[in-house]
Amino acid sequence: MYNFHNDGLIHPEEIVLKVIDLNKMTKFYDEVMGFKLLEVSADKVVFSLDGKNKFLTLRTESGFVPKSRGKTGLYHFAILLPSREDLGSFINHLVNVGYDRLGGSNHGVSEALYIQDPEDNGIEIYSDVDKDKWEYNDDHVKMVTEPLNYRQLMDLGKDKEFKGIPKDTILGHIHLHVDDLDKALKFYNTIGFNLVSTLAGSAYFISTGGYHHHIGMNVWNGRGAKAPGEKESGLDYYTLRVPKERMGKILEALDEAGYIYEKHLEGEVITKDPAGNTILMK
Ligand SMILES: [Fe+2]
Repeated sequence: MYNFHNDGLIHPEEIVLKVIDLNKMTKFYDEVMGFKLLEVSADKVVFSLDGKNKFLTLRTESGFVPKSRGKTGLYHFAILLPSREDLGSFINHLVNVGYDRLGGSNHGVSEALYIQDPEDNGIEIYSDVDKDKWEYNDDHVKMVTEPLNYRQLMDLGKDKEFKGIPKDTILGHIHLHVDDLDKALKFYNTIGFNLVSTLAGSAYFISTGGYHHHIGMNVWNGRGAKAPGEKESGLDYYTLRVPKERMGKILEALDEAGYIYEKHLEGEVITKDPAGNTILMK
């Protein structure tokens, strides 16, 4: 069993969203996504996947406005379920709660569902195909977009009643809108990510440790798209888990390439990719 999200690999781990209607969003992540509530206050709600660690923070502030179209930011965050049975069970659950904006694809390396939260943030729910079955074109992972076999998955999941998101679920990858693919790639290369796949010159997929992708990036909101304003809802920041012993080298590389970052609490570092997506490295 491969593990592409272990502590020795740089990978995304947490998401923080700016939200307008905290109650409505909390209800969605509780009832539809089955995330576990960790903290609730008047302006902030924190969810966990495993019941212990923070995963998704929703925060609100007066003056937040809906994000405008054609900006950089979040395309989707993608939670990786422990098994195919869990994916089937999750589809059955979505049918039971009456969620009706479901999309799905078989990517060869993974099987994925796509949904939107009430404030239009994209969410992918997926399970991985074993790495031994992945195909490659030269040294790039081959990812396809084929119909998802809903019937088979729903059948597989029928004996596994959904009782909240399984505790071994993790943030598998994040997919971002950027303004310029090569500019973004150069930045993420500096941190330590490698290009593993491309899609018709409009999307790049990057990872560490040979995963099919920890980060996707695309220019589907337009080349040269601007970053959203401070008050626009959507992605506030995401976190990257960085092995402690590598942080120093990464900061040196960022310095050398002229990227700006700020030291935060206890060895945490805040930076932005060139498309304006904020990252907390910890
Ligand atoms: Fe994705």
